[in-house]
Amino acid sequence: MSTSLQNDPTVALSRTVERLVAGQATSDGAGVKLTRVLTHQLQHRLDPFLMLDAFGSDRPDDYIAGFPDHPHRGFETVTYMIAGRMLHRDSAGHEGLLENGGVQWMTAGKGVIHSEIPQQEEGVMEGFQLWLNLPGRDKMVKPWYQDFKADELPKLVTAQGVSVTVIAGEARGVTGAVTRDATQPLYLDIHLPAGARFAQTLAAGHNAFVYVYRGEVSIAGQAVPVQRMAILANEAQADGVVIEAGVEARVLLVAGKPLKEPIVQYGPFVMNSQDEIYQALSDFRDGRLGETAR
Ligand code: FE2
Repeated sequence: MSTSLQNDPTVALSRTVERLVAGQATSDGAGVKLTRVLTHQLQHRLDPFLMLDAFGSDRPDDYIAGFPDHPHRGFETVTYMIAGRMLHRDSAGHEGLLENGGVQWMTAGKGVIHSEIPQQEEGVMEGFQLWLNLPGRDKMVKPWYQDFKADELPKLVTAQGVSVTVIAGEARGVTGAVTRDATQPLYLDIHLPAGARFAQTLAAGHNAFVYVYRGEVSIAGQAVPVQRMAILANEAQADGVVIEAGVEARVLLVAGKPLKEPIVQYGPFVMNSQDEIYQALSDFRDGRLGETAR
């Protein structure tokens, strides 16, 4: 179904919802409970995105153990902390405290070993980790890392009072904290008051999804309930997405340019071929994966 939106100057025709996804309850690290929203099965459909985990709990047992030292190679991780405090340390010498509303962007490239450990023993820990693939030519780049505190992230507010944090990409002339040429990621955190709508242009051919983490929204007439990901259809004639909120809602809008390369994942390594995975495993075993020993 398509909805014509003549009233909106920025998007003439919204993409529709192709599918709603509930995600899978799982645990990772040393036993952190989380929901894997973007799973392995969706890596091709949502290329260049490899994974989205949502974590949120007020029970310390669900998060306290954190993510002790573990490796990554071949992609980028973007951690967005809605509430809570987590300390990052890695083998490239980076260290940063990620807290309420902050983002940590890490390009693992040729390899990092890092830990992500909660710095709280009670209260709510809530956030997201998104994995963004690197093109084959960049999989072995030098690792890169940056923290952005909440007040360092670009934001905009629309006339209807919709407030948007532009983590990556560009929205209404506001350039995000991070931009990437190969994958052109768009990553918006959108807070909609009841009765508001938000339109965002999307490049044709880019894969896109919306994840609702508060309230409920409607996209081209399809209700998207809380804790659901709506995969947006790639209709050639649609020039963006229009998100409408009957009740107050908070959603992530994520889109990017597909790499259309082979994806071979083995746990924390994502490469283009099995041989490159074997190489990553042997580099890790031999202590050659992190740039510097810790
Ligand atoms: Fe990690």
